[in-house]
Amino acid sequence: MRVVILGSGRGSNAAAVLEAQAAGQLGRARVAQIFSDQPEAGILSLGAQHGVPSAFLDPAPFKTKLEGPGEERYIEAITGCGADLVVLAGFMRVLKPRLLAAFAGKVINLHPSLLPSFPGLDAVGQAWRRGVKVTGCTVHVVTPEVDGGPIVDQAVVRIDPADTLESLTAKVHAAEHALLPAVIARLSEALRIEDRSPRGN
Ligand code: GAR
Repeated sequence: MRVVILGSGRGSNAAAVLEAQAAGQLGRARVAQIFSDQPEAGILSLGAQHGVPSAFLDPAPFKTKLEGPGEERYIEAITGCGADLVVLAGFMRVLKPRLLAAFAGKVINLHPSLLPSFPGLDAVGQAWRRGVKVTGCTVHVVTPEVDGGPIVDQAVVRIDPADTLESLTAKVHAAEHALLPAVIARLSEALRIEDRSPRGN
């Protein structure tokens, strides 16, 4: 299962996926390519460390969504990688129906809250300010509704009285680093089960 990772930031979740792959814990999934919409993003330096091609891909002309010429560039590049799964690991841009139709049901996103609670930006801060006692992270299939697609899996993080926003953020990240590789591995195993189904009789 060829995986393409899209990210905009430091790439700690992409790193967790690549470390799981190096440890033989990513099932039949292999990271084929990393793309970023930010030319200076930390996620781009991971490729060199792990022997995975990584590149800035111009998302222009929009600032917060991927539509028009930028969307076409991403569709062409991801198609060129032969991607079976597209993983948004901190890709801070809204995907539009054209790209989602090109990879229907194959795009998953990691979000730092227990959706449907706290969609959108600063999800950890939203949970912290609301005073909930549990939060966590979610992997979901991406649909045109932002953070609204079918939930694949979630991990729960308890908010303790001693927590600060910083310690909570660290706990949510740690939960993400375990959840995302585990989900990718499971999805790749699901493909393997399909491959085993009887044929020709
Ligand atoms: C992660 O916490 C991810 O859940 C979040 O961005 C962070 C990326 O961190 N994504 C969103 O908020 C998407 N709405 P990373 O660059 O260290 O992997």
